[in-house]
Amino acid sequence: MSRGVRIAIAGAGFIGAVHARSARLAGGRLVGVAASSPGRSERAAAALGAERAFGSADELVASPDVDIVHICTPNHLHRPLAEAALAAGKHVICEKPLAIDATGAQALVDAAEDAGRQTAVPFVYRYYPTVREARERVRGGESGPVRIIHGNYLQDWLLRPEDDNWRVDAQLGGASRAFADIGSHWCDLAEFVTGHRITRVCARMLTAMPERARAASRAAFERGGEAGETREVGTEDAAVVQFETDGGAIGTTVISQISAGRKNQLFLEISAAEESLAFNQEEPESLWRGRREAAIVIKRDAEALSEPAARYAFLPAGHPQGYADCFDAFVAEAYAAVAAGEAPEGLPVFADGLRSARITEAVLSSARDERWIDVLAPEALALAG
Ligand SMILES: NC(=O)c1ccc[n+]([C@@H]2O[C@H](COP(=O)([O-])OP(=O)(O)OC[C@H]3O[C@@H](n4cnc5c(N)ncnc54)[C@H](O)[C@@H]3O)[C@@H](O)[C@H]2O)c1
Repeated sequence: MSRGVRIAIAGAGFIGAVHARSARLAGGRLVGVAASSPGRSERAAAALGAERAFGSADELVASPDVDIVHICTPNHLHRPLAEAALAAGKHVICEKPLAIDATGAQALVDAAEDAGRQTAVPFVYRYYPTVREARERVRGGESGPVRIIHGNYLQDWLLRPEDDNWRVDAQLGGASRAFADIGSHWCDLAEFVTGHRITRVCARMLTAMPERARAASRAAFERGGEAGETREVGTEDAAVVQFETDGGAIGTTVISQISAGRKNQLFLEISAAEESLAFNQEEPESLWRGRREAAIVIKRDAEALSEPAARYAFLPAGHPQGYADCFDAFVAEAYAAVAAGEAPEGLPVFADGLRSARITEAVLSSARDERWIDVLAPEALALAG
């Protein structure tokens, strides 16, 4: 990517700042940011070192001075902002969930195709070298056919009724909260590593706290409760999903934002014919590989990894890499896609965001109707209508 590609970021909360850092490292010129009000945009521009504050996100996505738009707002704004950015000829990196329903995600895939622009969705866990190593072992046949895919994504930041966030509100976050927010990451990773596609789901959901305090501040990962009001909650705190894949595997995942002591425990284990592979996002420098005769821990060491995994090992072994490094690699690849006019293999794009939205709708539909639902079934896709 030539240095100086002009980028702008809509939404300047937790993840907007992560995008800003990675954008700079990838050679982007941060021409502007927009937050939820002109005053907040000014403060965000100063904090992130952007050249200017846009009056609004609508102004940002239409600006002639911008080549690539990063959309980091609450979920309900993803579709309108991405559509406007594509219509204005921008390349778009849009946060997950791509839209609050599959209809919206499909509209964005179509709009990007019509506009001929590059797209990306930050399913960044794909960029851990140990994840790539697991993927290579499956792809290369060393693991044998994948039979069982299981794991969880557990957090605790919404554990208490006084914990609040815009994600809790279905109008802002979408009908699914925990599953769309973090289950989407788990499913993307499971499919990315195994090459399987989830075809059917059977889900149960739990809203453990049907009422929560309405917080004065609803920024991500902040404690709420100061306002003393409560409100009804229609989105799930947790989901348990059983599934089948097109590769003949069965699987299960537990997704929760109310698991005390768990912060970002994305755990994925694959039981294949020759070996098991296990990855834990909170200890991403290691990949566990178990065979009948012995189990070993593969360290994130370029010398020990396959070439497709070693490519993402930026630091010498023993100096830990983490989430921010994944983000850097993801943004760099997204910008490379813009420069090349095509996405490199493995870059998560809008089509991956659409897959995720379809799985989410199947999960919602299954939990509501208490039965198995095909991921592409019309009843799953019609849910949001
Ligand atoms: N890929 C990942 O790993 C990852 C991690 C965290 C969040 N996310 C996604 O990023 C998005 C933002 O999440 P967050 O955790 O940063 O939330 P956040 O609450 O920290 O930040 C949201 C920001 O959007 C701004 N905003 C609200 N309305 C706006 C508007 N009309 N115009 C411009 N800005 C507006 C708010 O001022 C706030 O700064 C969500 O879609 C979330 O799912 C992805």
